[in-house]
Amino acid sequence: SPSLKSLAESKGIYFGGEITQDLLSNSTATSLAGSQFDMITPGNEMKWDTTEPSQGNFNFGPGDAIVNFAQANGMKVRGHNLVWYSQLPSWVSNLPSGQVQSAMENHITTEATHYKGEVYSWDVVNEPFNDDGSYRGDAFYNAMGSGYIADALRTAHAADPGAKLYINDYNIEGENAKSNALYSLVQQLKSQGVPIDGVGFESHFIVGQLPTDLQANMARFTALGVNVAVTELDDRMPTPPSTGNLTQQATDDAYVVQACLATNGCVGVSQWAVGDADSWVPGFFSGYGAATLFDSNYQPKPSFNAVVNALGGS
Ligand code: G3I
Repeated sequence: SPSLKSLAESKGIYFGGEITQDLLSNSTATSLAGSQFDMITPGNEMKWDTTEPSQGNFNFGPGDAIVNFAQANGMKVRGHNLVWYSQLPSWVSNLPSGQVQSAMENHITTEATHYKGEVYSWDVVNEPFNDDGSYRGDAFYNAMGSGYIADALRTAHAADPGAKLYINDYNIEGENAKSNALYSLVQQLKSQGVPIDGVGFESHFIVGQLPTDLQANMARFTALGVNVAVTELDDRMPTPPSTGNLTQQATDDAYVVQACLATNGCVGVSQWAVGDADSWVPGFFSGYGAATLFDSNYQPKPSFNAVVNALGGS
């Protein structure tokens, strides 16, 4: 039977997923991930609260476990993430504002140096915007203004010049106030020679509610000279899933893959789970779930078959 990764590779893109360290002991999940994905994103293991829980004390054990799993299975790794308002230990938000920049630079340098040569890309700055297009007033913005983004990118590039450097966000998949703000930022960063290689479209969708201008929006970003990637795809529905919603999900997921294939500079698609059994969705959206390509027993769903078809398989 076809694998997502081999079909994707034959089209010049990757197909990936997200995994957490606790799932590495589930052989059903790991063998499915190993057979279907050629890119893996750690769900939590490279975030600041895990990697530097107190100032200057670094812990790369959980992230290393994901990297080892990836390397043993011939997968690349999307490093996720270096600078984010969430899963940020309180010592950072409690710093005097004059100390935030050096703490941020030290965190980026230490983590990106540790993983130098082992990650395909870094989500250097995660979710910097509010939905209205204003900057999120987090510890970094409050201390440094929007210049923290260029500083973070330059710092990451100095530590690992081979890694592709991304800004990653949600609700930017269609053209709207938030994606317009990100577009202007990327345009500005490129004009200033700041090392920015890509934009991550998280793509946390609801069945039947995908933006119809996804492909056009991808194209305007790649026209700025950056790659785009679908980084956290899921497409949630009320549970238990109805046949109609599973069919709509298949249409939705195929549409996302088609948009990426049709966009020069879209490098790949990753879903945010191995399968429905380990997805974040039911824990965060009460009554919703069934958001991925594989069901609660890690069996392929109609979406899997639709994505296979979109990738040229049958
Ligand atoms: O580690 C603690 C554990 O000690 C404790 O017993 C348990 C009780 O609640 O919580 C555990 O921490 C949880 C952590 O996941 C690890 O399991 C947090 O509560 C929980 O909030 C956290 O959720 C993560 C979420 O990011 C946080 O915002 C999800 O697993 C993770 O899938 C999700 O991923 C994000 C991306 O990084 C960025 N884009 C959106 C995406 C979905 O929210």
